[in-house]
Amino acid sequence: MNVLSKTNMGQVAKPLPHDAAKLHVTGTARYVDDIPTPRGCLHLAFGLSPIAKGIITAMDLDAVRSSPGVVAVLTADDLPFANDVSPSAHDEPLLSDGTVNHLGQPVFLVVATSHRAARVAARKGQIDYQEQDALLTLDQALAADSRFEEGPRIYEKGDAAAAIDAAPRVVEGQFELGGQEHFYLEGQAALALPQEGGDMLVHSSTQHPTEIQHKVAEGIGVPMHAVRVETRRMGGGFGGKESQGNALAVSCAIAARLTGQPCKMRYDRDDDMTITGKRHAFRITYRAGFDEDGRVQGVEFLHLVNCGWAQDLSLPVADRAMLHSDNAYLIPAMRIESHRLKTNLQSATAYRGFGGPQGMVGIERVMDHIAHDLGVDPVELRQRNYYAAPDQAGPDNTTPYGQRVEDFELHAITAQLLESSDYAARKADIAAWNAGQDRFARGIAFSPVKFGISFTLTHLNQAGALVHVYQDGSVHLNHGGTEMGQGLFQKVAQVAASRFGIPLDKVKITATDTAKVPNTSATAASSGSDLNGMAVQAACDTIRDRMANFLAERYQTAVAQIRFEDGTVHIGDELISFDEAASLAYQGRISLSATGFYKTPKLEWDRIQGRGRPFFYFSYGASVTEVVVDRQTGENRILRTDILHDAGASLNPALDIGQVEGAYVQGAGWLTTEELVWDDRGALRTHAPSTYKIPACSDRPDVFNVALYDGENRENTIYRSKAVGEPPFMLGISAWLAQSAAVAALGDAYPAMDAPGTGEEVWRAIRRVRDGI
Ligand code: MTE
Ligand code: MOS
Repeated sequence: MNVLSKTNMGQVAKPLPHDAAKLHVTGTARYVDDIPTPRGCLHLAFGLSPIAKGIITAMDLDAVRSSPGVVAVLTADDLPFANDVSPSAHDEPLLSDGTVNHLGQPVFLVVATSHRAARVAARKGQIDYQEQDALLTLDQALAADSRFEEGPRIYEKGDAAAAIDAAPRVVEGQFELGGQEHFYLEGQAALALPQEGGDMLVHSSTQHPTEIQHKVAEGIGVPMHAVRVETRRMGGGFGGKESQGNALAVSCAIAARLTGQPCKMRYDRDDDMTITGKRHAFRITYRAGFDEDGRVQGVEFLHLVNCGWAQDLSLPVADRAMLHSDNAYLIPAMRIESHRLKTNLQSATAYRGFGGPQGMVGIERVMDHIAHDLGVDPVELRQRNYYAAPDQAGPDNTTPYGQRVEDFELHAITAQLLESSDYAARKADIAAWNAGQDRFARGIAFSPVKFGISFTLTHLNQAGALVHVYQDGSVHLNHGGTEMGQGLFQKVAQVAASRFGIPLDKVKITATDTAKVPNTSATAASSGSDLNGMAVQAACDTIRDRMANFLAERYQTAVAQIRFEDGTVHIGDELISFDEAASLAYQGRISLSATGFYKTPKLEWDRIQGRGRPFFYFSYGASVTEVVVDRQTGENRILRTDILHDAGASLNPALDIGQVEGAYVQGAGWLTTEELVWDDRGALRTHAPSTYKIPACSDRPDVFNVALYDGENRENTIYRSKAVGEPPFMLGISAWLAQSAAVAALGDAYPAMDAPGTGEEVWRAIRRVRDGI
C-alpha cells in the first residue's frame, strides 16, 4: 500500500547537522567518563608487562596492595570465570596466564578509590620474568613460521605467473606499509554498575555492545540476559572499538561483582596506545606484466601481514586486503598470497577500511610503477584498465574472486573530477614550475576507490530495530547501531521521520541498548545506515500500516486514501495531525510499538576458496592531490585536494561530506605522517601525540574541494543511499602517490617509496632518485 507518497522524501536527503553537534562543540555531550556515578565508584588500572615475550616466574604484589587507596588486586588466578577477551579465537587472556606476549600486556588488575591511586599502585608490581626471544618483525615471524592460519591463503583468477611471463613488459617491487594508531579523541572507557541479583549494567565506549555483553557474561558467569550494555556515543572508534573495549568492560564487571560497587576504567593515552591494537602493517611484494599500451595482463601480490600476538579480527582483515587488491581494475589474471604472521606486538585490529586500504595501496602502487615505466599519464593508464561501465559490463566484468561488477561508476566520476580539478593543465604547470627552480618539487596524483560493502562474514549482515510511537505522537527510536561521530543516529532518525511524515524533533534518538535490540553486529564495515536504516524503516512501516488500517476503518475510507506527510495524516480529504492520529490509534487499542529486521540479500561467500559474492554493492570515489616537497629536507605538505565521492542518493549530504573530508585526512595521515616506531625490545616509542604525528587542522589541504557524485545506488538500499564511512579513507592514497610524483620529477629512477611518506622517507626517496643512493 502506498501510504507514503513517493515524491515526498520528508526528512531524508536534507543536509541537517549532526544531532549532537551543539553538545559536541559546547562540551556537554556525555561520554562514558562523564556519566555521574553513584557514591563509592572504584577505579581500575592494569599492571603491564615490561617485556615483549617471556614467562612469569614470580610475582610480588605486596607493594601494590599496600599502595594508598587500593581496594583489591587481581591476577589471572583470582578471576572467577573465563579469562578471555578475544572476539574470535579465545586466545586473548584478560590477564596474563603466566606467559606474556607483548610489551604492555595486562598482567594484573588494580581496583582503587581513584583513577590516580589505581595508576600509581599499578606501577609498584614486582614481577620476575624469564625473558624469551620476541618476534618483532615480519622476517622473524616468517623464519619462525609463526602464523595464525596454516600456510598462506591464496585467491586467484587465471594463471598470473604465465600471464606475466608472456607479457611484453614487467615491473616488480616491494614496499613496507606501516600500521596506524586510531587516536580516537575519547580513549577506551567502561563503567559497570552492579544490579540486584547479580545482574550487571555496563556503559561502554564500544562499536559492539553485543560483544561486550557476551564477554562480560562469560567473565562473571551469567547468561547474556543478566547483562545489559548501553552505549550512547563514542568520541571516535574508527574500528579501534570493535574488540578493544572488551578488556575494560570485563574488568569493570568482575571488579563490580567482587566489591558490589560501581567500577570504572579508562586508559590514559599512553596506556591506550601501548595496550590496544592498531592497523595491520603489511609488506607487499608485487610483479605485474603489461603491454606497450599499458594494458595489464597479470599481477601477483604477496602480502605479509603483521597481526601481532592474538588473532582478534586479523583473518577477515587480511581477507579484505586480498579482496581489494584489484581495486578499480579488470585484471585478466591475478594471484594474491597472504601470510597472517603472529608477532610479539600489540594485537592488530580493525581500522577504517579493515584491510581494504592495504590491498588497494598495493594495486595503486603497481599502477603508479607501470605509468612511470611506460612514461604514460597515470590517470590514462588507470582508465585503460578500469572495469567496464554498467551499460557495457559483460559476464567477464568480474573480480578475481568471481563477483560481477555491475555498478562501476568510476568512468563518469573520473571524467567529472579531472575536469573540476583541472588536472591536465595543473599537471603541465607543475612540470614547468619544477623545472624552473631547485628548492622545491611539486607533484600531483589521482587515485580511485572501489570498496566492497557488506561484512565478509555473511551472517553479520543483519540488523534489528525497536520503535515506539507514544500517544502524544512522539517517537522513541532504537536500533542496534552505535554512534561514534559518523552521524548514524541522525541519518536513521531522518528515515524514521520520513516514514511517519513527521518533523525530526518528534523523533527521540536514544542510546544503543542490548536490552532493546538483541544480537546486534558491530557498527562496522560502513554498513551502519544500510542495515539499521532498513530495520528501522521496517519497524516504522509496521506501525504506520497499523495506524492506516485503523484510520481507514474509522473514517470509512480506503487505506490507499491515507497519506502521512508534513506532520499530518491525510485521510481522503480530511486532515488530522499525526499526534491526533496516534492518540486515536491508542484509544482504538492499536499497538504502537514494533520491531523491525533486515538482512542483506544476494550474499554468498566462501572465504577459503575465495569465490562468490561477498559484497552487496560497491562504493566509489576518486581524488586528486597536489603536494609540495622540500628537495633539501624531504619535508612536505598537501596543497590542494579535489574529491568526487559516490554516496548514492545521500541520506544526508552534510554528514556525508563530513565523512569524506575526515576520512581523506585520516587516510592521508596514515600514508604521509603517522609512523609507529617500536624499539628492539618491542616497546612502542611513539605512544603519545608528541612523537606520533596525526594530521592537525593545519595539515588539511589549503584548498579542499569535496563534492558528492550525483547518482543512486543501483541496488535497493535505504532510499538508494550508499555506505560512506570507510570508502573515502582510501582517497588518501593520492597524497602518497603525489609525493612519489614530486620525487619522480627529480630524476629517472622510480621513487619506490615505503609508506608512510614522512619527511625522512621522502628524503630517502629523493636521494635514490636524484643522487642514485
Ligand atoms: N566517523 C567518525 N566521525 N568517527 C568514527 O569513529 N568510524 C569509521 C566511519 N566513520 C568513524 C567514522 C568506521 S571504521 C566505520 S566502519 C564507520 O564509520 C561505521 O559507521 P557507519 O557504518 O554508520 O558508517
Ligand atoms: Mo570500521 S574498521 O569497519 O569499524
